[in-house]
Amino acid sequence: MKYKVLKDFPKSFLWGASTSAYQVEGAWNEDGKGLSVIDKGKRLEGTTDFKLASDHYHHYKEDVSLFAEMGLKAYRFSIAWSRIFPNGTGEINKKGIEFYNNLIDEILKYNIEPIVTMYHFDLPYVLQQKGGWSNRDTVDAFENYGKTLFIHFGDKIKYWLTINEQNMMILYGTAIGTVDPNLKNPQKELYQQNHHMLLAQAKVMKLCHEMCPNARIGPAPNITAVYPESSKPEDVLAAKTWSSIRNWLYLDTAVFGMYNSLAWSYMQEKEYIPTILEGDMEILKAANPDFIAFNYYTTSTVAKSKNDESDINSTGDQHIAVGESGVFRGVSNPNLEKTEFGWEIDPVGFRNTLRELNDRYNLPLMVTENGLGAFDRLEGDDIINDDYRIDYLSKHIEQARLAITDGVNLIGYFPWSAIDLVSTHQGISKRYGFIYVNRDEFDLKDLRRIRKKSFYWYKRVIESNGECLQSKVKEI
Ligand code: BG6
Repeated sequence: MKYKVLKDFPKSFLWGASTSAYQVEGAWNEDGKGLSVIDKGKRLEGTTDFKLASDHYHHYKEDVSLFAEMGLKAYRFSIAWSRIFPNGTGEINKKGIEFYNNLIDEILKYNIEPIVTMYHFDLPYVLQQKGGWSNRDTVDAFENYGKTLFIHFGDKIKYWLTINEQNMMILYGTAIGTVDPNLKNPQKELYQQNHHMLLAQAKVMKLCHEMCPNARIGPAPNITAVYPESSKPEDVLAAKTWSSIRNWLYLDTAVFGMYNSLAWSYMQEKEYIPTILEGDMEILKAANPDFIAFNYYTTSTVAKSKNDESDINSTGDQHIAVGESGVFRGVSNPNLEKTEFGWEIDPVGFRNTLRELNDRYNLPLMVTENGLGAFDRLEGDDIINDDYRIDYLSKHIEQARLAITDGVNLIGYFPWSAIDLVSTHQGISKRYGFIYVNRDEFDLKDLRRIRKKSFYWYKRVIESNGECLQSKVKEI
């Protein structure tokens, strides 16, 4: 639809940026922190581990002051569960509470809204040794962890996110590094883990409403529109199937408290149906998210399955549709350009995704990740000309504004990432930040913080409340 006038971003719009604890903090074993599954995981050859990352743990004051200089209205970060509970449950690590209290105070000092992700991939390793999310006790451990966060930080945090990209942990956990390599029947167990995470999420959402009545809480999956390769009805069916398995399975349970019927049929067919105890569905139903947070990087294009192994794209990762024989075939979209890492770039797909979420759930939406991973180059005089990132983000912001004009209730936008950090499986060389961290995969250099060109650009975007973008809004 072509609009004569576009609606503005709301005055209270949360212009933010995101990070996650294990990808940015470092200090992996300092001040009583326990190990997480990430600390124990294997790294791909040639990529760094997460021991030091961007050393934000020791640089947080400097980093937050740069976020303030950039004009951030909000900053999304995650709390490392194993910094609060080194063993996942049991005794609290006071130093962990102290660190996050200091961080939150520092953020609030600049009138930036702190947005907390409770769990971003880094399950405490001690819990993993006891079966991780396959063990129902982990649900209680998460509820107890959530309660502890609400007790200690509840008076300062208005927006809580439960679990980051639960769907990616279930579907692509091996690529991300969250799947226990010792699982005997991984697929089946992962859907049991999924059920436990859904219960854990529902419990903390309810608890948050009871303990922090002024706060808001929501899930944070990775959601994307799924396109059929062609207008063939069979391709359209395959796209809808994949969308149910990838997207709606997670959000229908979080919002409506029920399993998506198509995803359920898929689990039945594959013999992945989890054990659901009496009362579980009531637990899911009793939780009501206040908003949906979601991460968006690209869309997914699929075709009818050929019912053989050729459906499976072995080079896929969380953003390159892998495909599954008998279910769908992941294909690339010839209409889209790709990043250096092979992820398709689809700003219009962002608007499609926002509209689909709005139609389906009619809740406020918060985009908690969106960004471009690239090999940035540090030039002389500390210059990083990341025009490609500006181009990517500005095109997505244009589409966000169009979605708002369409009627979507979008309350915030958080590019990934506020500052350079270590990618889930492609090292620090795959950079996303507005602020460059001077280190390489194995040479830690001086960890100097350097403002990229996109830093100044985003500052202008925020100052102008989204008016001042590089390229013009196109008529669609
Ligand atoms: C999301 C995660 O999957 O995408 C982030 O929530 C991650 O943790 C981001 O860093 C980008 O993915 P990657 O694999 O390039 O780090």
